[in-house]
Amino acid sequence: MQQRFHTLVLGAGAAGLFCGARAAGRGLSVCVLDHSAKPAEKVRISGGGRCNFTNVDTKAANFHSENPHFAKSALARYTPWDFCDLMAKHGLSWQEKTLGQLFCDQRSTAVIQLLLDELDSAGGELRLSTEVSGVQHRDGRFVVETSAGEIEADNLIVATGGLSIPKIGASGFAYELARQFGHEVIPPRPALVPLTFTGAAKDNFAELSGVSCPIDAQARRGPEFHEAMLFTHRGLSGPAILQASSYWRETESVGIDLAPGWSVRDELKTAKADTPKINLSTWLARHYPARLADYMLTWPGMPADKQLANLSGADMEAADQALKHWSIKPAGTEGWRTAEVTAGGIDTNGLSSQTMESKHVKGLYFIGECVDVTGWLGGYNFQWAWASAAAAASAIDADRAA
Ligand code: FDA
Repeated sequence: MQQRFHTLVLGAGAAGLFCGARAAGRGLSVCVLDHSAKPAEKVRISGGGRCNFTNVDTKAANFHSENPHFAKSALARYTPWDFCDLMAKHGLSWQEKTLGQLFCDQRSTAVIQLLLDELDSAGGELRLSTEVSGVQHRDGRFVVETSAGEIEADNLIVATGGLSIPKIGASGFAYELARQFGHEVIPPRPALVPLTFTGAAKDNFAELSGVSCPIDAQARRGPEFHEAMLFTHRGLSGPAILQASSYWRETESVGIDLAPGWSVRDELKTAKADTPKINLSTWLARHYPARLADYMLTWPGMPADKQLANLSGADMEAADQALKHWSIKPAGTEGWRTAEVTAGGIDTNGLSSQTMESKHVKGLYFIGECVDVTGWLGGYNFQWAWASAAAAASAIDADRAA
């Protein structure tokens, strides 16, 4: 078995397979290695089985990082349309669902097959079920100790992802390796993850489990997200909440506008003139699912359930405040078990934004989710995987050949 390669890629997920295929396509000898028995498990479970493989509106502003400019270079050089071309080359089709999100018409396993075919046809090798126990850097080469013996490589690409969903192979390997080679790691935290609550809030939300409605959600450090919210047995989920969760920190509140894009005060004034005899509860039930409307009536600050004709200006102002400025204080998140991605990760200060190469060790690259670049929900994280992989693959020094 060949134990020496020009380039060894650790991690056969979205970023690792794509990087391996593109590097092998340059004529370099490449091996992609993974400890799991199956490659790209996250691609398989992504997008509800239809892989939301990119977002046509991708720009650096859709990502968070300690350095918001870091992703710009790679994203500009490998665009969503580049991956669409690759999909078309493999006979795959897609459709835009909402907010620029492109989903595969075929099962997400077809995207995995695309990645495997690209690697194979370029002459790259894939080794699964192979544990990595250590990495050394000797005489400018990387020596990787694995369950199948030592493998030597002139270039090492680390694409082992983040900590989310440990049961399908996630590990903190990339962070440990980065620290070993002198890199800083921004503390990883679960992102795109449901928010959990305790006490009365938890009980109330559990009662509403399954109810959803459009909202604007905003954590203190992030932008406002206009999408749906879903009540669950443990707390709050749905796209708007997942997006806000990526910016949320413990002890902080999340602001929710339950009347996104419309004025409660103006609507109530109009309703008071048009239908003065209906009660506030009826008005609420016309705008919200019945169970949610009932719950809203119990909120402190919400005016009592009286006929609209009897609502004062102050009552309408109070309803407006309550619905447009609902502030919730999560106790935590559902954690790594359900988080779609890991925020934080390898500090971009130690990496070249052009090539993803380490500034400390020549020939060492970090790509994909292990880097401190985290996309919003909606195909951005795969676009980062493709773009960072492409940046590294085209930058590998062919002259450091095996
Ligand atoms: P990824 O995690 O995909 O791959 C890392 C690989 O490294 C794995 O194969 C793992 O087994 C391997 N590995 C880990 N530790 C190792 C070790 N010590 N030794 C050897 N191998 C090791 N994004 C998006 O854009 N659109 C979407 O639709 C979705 N949907 C989605 C659903 C769900 C349920 C999840 C959990 C996530 C998503 N995502 C997503 C996020 C997306 O899946 C994620 O950002 C990318 O898969 C990251 O790609 P990477 O290749 O960087 O890591």
